[in-house]
Amino acid sequence: MRRKIIAGNWKMNKTPSEAIKLVEELKPLVDNEAVDVVFCVPAIDIVPVVKACEGSTIQVGAENMYFEESGAYTGEISPAMLVDAGVRYVILGHSERRDYFKETSEDVNRKMKKAIEHGITPIMCCGESLEQREQGITLDWIRQQVKVGYQGIAAADAAKTVIAYEPIWAIGTGRTATTEQAEEVCGAIRQCIAEIYDEATAESIRIQYGGSVNAANAAELFAQPDIDGGLVGGASLKADFGKIVNYDR
Ligand code: 13P
Repeated sequence: MRRKIIAGNWKMNKTPSEAIKLVEELKPLVDNEAVDVVFCVPAIDIVPVVKACEGSTIQVGAENMYFEESGAYTGEISPAMLVDAGVRYVILGHSERRDYFKETSEDVNRKMKKAIEHGITPIMCCGESLEQREQGITLDWIRQQVKVGYQGIAAADAAKTVIAYEPIWAIGTGRTATTEQAEEVCGAIRQCIAEIYDEATAESIRIQYGGSVNAANAAELFAQPDIDGGLVGGASLKADFGKIVNYDR
């Protein structure tokens, strides 16, 4: 039985002082022993958020990371910096990074390997555009993103990672994928992992759905056999996140 993982992606929101306030507000609301709860926050918020989360079960994640160890990469954040700050997870290859910052699946693959090397659990995002969905190439596209993302990664390592299926047309639009659409793609991702590795790895890997998850639709989405939780944007910045984490109550 896979343990559910529900992560908030704060994106470029909350100054350090606002971040501490939000954690204090959410801390009593996001207590669910059956679920891994992760707050993925902007780099500058990581240190205060880790401190504010002390004594709770909340784990802290980053929203990006670079694939080099250190050196002349102005503006980038290294895996060792994240580890030292108390980060356990890192979102890699979010569609906003792929679209606005031209990250490729090859970049994402390099970052995946580095994160794993440093003991940080990657949450690798994949997802199709509306155009791709309408063209009927969703599954081919996603399979390609997953195959490149996991190139050269050993089965034992892959099994511990997380994949987030986030259809681009559902992100921040209030237009959630239907439960059937979300389950279809998450199931196809698991199948793809089984083809790359084996059934055991596919059964272990956790696959989230992301894209306009809210308190009203979380329970139905998370009840699907291949959906192991969610990656939540807008609703992770509000008290609603508590309801999403406690979707099973
Ligand atoms: P929304 O929940 O705001 O649609 O964002 C989803 C997302 O991009 C999470 O990574």
